[in-house]
Amino acid sequence: MAIPVTSTVLIAVVITLSTMAHLTESSSDNNRIFSPCADATVEKSDGFTLGIAFASRSAFFFNKSVQLSPCDRRLSLSSANSQLSVFRPKVDEISLLTVNSSSFSPDLYGGYMVAFAGRKYAARSLPAFVANNTYIVTSFTLVLEFQKGRLQNLYWKRDGCSSCSGKSNFVCLNNQDCAMRTSSCKTKNGNVDCSIGIQLAFSGTDKHASVFNSWYEVKNLRQYSLFGLYKNLKGSLTNQYNSFF
Ligand SMILES: *[C@@H]1O[C@H](CO)[C@@H](O)[C@H](O)[C@H]1NC(C)=O
Ligand SMILES: *[C@@H]1O[C@H](CO)[C@@H](O)[C@H](O)[C@H]1NC(C)=O
Ligand SMILES: *[C@@H]1O[C@H](CO)[C@@H](O)[C@H](O)[C@H]1NC(C)=O
Repeated sequence: MAIPVTSTVLIAVVITLSTMAHLTESSSDNNRIFSPCADATVEKSDGFTLGIAFASRSAFFFNKSVQLSPCDRRLSLSSANSQLSVFRPKVDEISLLTVNSSSFSPDLYGGYMVAFAGRKYAARSLPAFVANNTYIVTSFTLVLEFQKGRLQNLYWKRDGCSSCSGKSNFVCLNNQDCAMRTSSCKTKNGNVDCSIGIQLAFSGTDKHASVFNSWYEVKNLRQYSLFGLYKNLKGSLTNQYNSFF
């Protein structure tokens, strides 16, 4: 099924927490739904496809009032200034989604993002501020809430800036996001790799009513706190966060 967002698919990567990977190696992915705009019912060990669309905040609203899924053609996101990333993490595994910034500046694509999946049972997050030409937020936590294996809700979990209070490289926006100056990004001739990292957690139950655990494991963690644990994450990202926090 075609996704109406036709813009270039970004270089996007799913990185699994190194300590968890070996536990699930033997299990398999039986979910045959690969489009973020189709409905899937999942069990533990399945892969799950979701999309992240980048555009202006208003581009996610129909008739200026109703927020629709980016899959909904009434939004005509494909003719708006937008970008799309598609990811396929494993259900209930703690994963980090990264969007490499070397060829992508979110401030040039409206500066907001929405996570989404499903069609008849379409779920979408609220638009989250990523960047404008002054500030950029590079670390997010996204919770996927399932009921009997069907996605019900997607929401951003915030830590009220507790991870960056007192850190001079950061400012706290709206009492919820730790942001850096966009001018410090490498794409703007600064020295920070402003690739976006989205920490995932699964909550609720799978299709056998088995309870997901990853949400409990990340619930008390703070923005930026997990980067050092991903063994495959480019050293450039890990090191810069270790030196900030
Ligand atoms: C758009 O919103 C206006 C005012 O709220 C309303 O009168 C109009 O019927 C809406 N159009 C559609 C297509 O829903
Ligand atoms: C992003 O891509 C560039 C060019 O391919 C690479 O040099 C850089 O290390 C990548 N950054 C991350 C965080 O993966
Ligand atoms: C950038 O975003 C911040 C936080 O939302 C806002 O306070 C600021 O006014 C914005 N700057 C511009 C130039 O839009």
